[in-house]
Amino acid sequence: MNESEQVAGISAARAYEGLHVPAMFLEWAGPMLEVIALRPGERFLDVACGTGVLAREASARVGESGRVTGLDLDPGMLVVAAELAPAVIWKQGSAEALPFPEGSFDAVACQFGLMFFPDPVATLREMARVLAPGGRIGVAVWDRLEHSPVYPRIVDLLEKNAGPEAAEALRAPFGLGDREKLETLFAEAGFESVTVETRMGTAHFPSLRSLMEAELRGWLPVMGVVLEEARIRHILTEAEKALGDFVTADGAFVFDTSAHLVTAGYSI
Ligand SMILES: C[S@@+](CC[C@H](N)C(=O)[O-])C[C@H]1O[C@@H](n2cnc3c(N)ncnc32)[C@H](O)[C@@H]1O
Repeated sequence: MNESEQVAGISAARAYEGLHVPAMFLEWAGPMLEVIALRPGERFLDVACGTGVLAREASARVGESGRVTGLDLDPGMLVVAAELAPAVIWKQGSAEALPFPEGSFDAVACQFGLMFFPDPVATLREMARVLAPGGRIGVAVWDRLEHSPVYPRIVDLLEKNAGPEAAEALRAPFGLGDREKLETLFAEAGFESVTVETRMGTAHFPSLRSLMEAELRGWLPVMGVVLEEARIRHILTEAEKALGDFVTADGAFVFDTSAHLVTAGYSI
């Protein structure tokens, strides 16, 4: 990776942290840690930690006697994560080959990451491998694309104005929304006791423009799609026509979200 790619990676991660995290991801960190019942003093691993929203919440819960580690493939995400929480152990690596010995953690979670891994079953097996006996695994994934009130429209907008690669980058987060498919992955990975709970949330962006900027400048580059400035401006204008009906009286952009929270005990 050359220097300008590094700078672009950090800038995309800052946009992700500044726009996406408070609007859509922060509200899931508490429920995620509740379903795995994270306790003071425990060793916790956040797989695909991004800028570390879950790891930060976990740090507050495990306290000084506990230990939190965050792992992500993207170096830009980790730069921002380390700035925000220097006490957490940040590690670059792939979720499919976790760079930790067996039995290193009391709880392992992956919040909105599993759908991006080429081999999610291998990742689930890895999460089990690094878990100590009696440990707990938690995974959050978005519900199906069709269950979102706004993302099908954004995908359509990108398909028409930015091409199939950009549209696919926005479809990908919903790739494990089918509950049966999700349960099959856990079964294939060897888990016997698996609980899937679907919960509703609320995304709250300060404006439609901030949502679209988050997707176009924050998320697409993370997925390897960088659009020219003129195209971004054109899509921002088109978005006003396609999504204007979700704008509230005070100019905010608010919509329902839903996600599956999966928990599984150590069983393999
Ligand atoms: C939508 S973000 C979620 C980040 C964070 N968990 C959160 O809740 O904000 C997905 C993350 O998965 C990471 N990722 C994608 N493929 C990965 C892999 N094979 N191994 C580790 N991390 C990966 C990306 O770099 C990105 O930070």
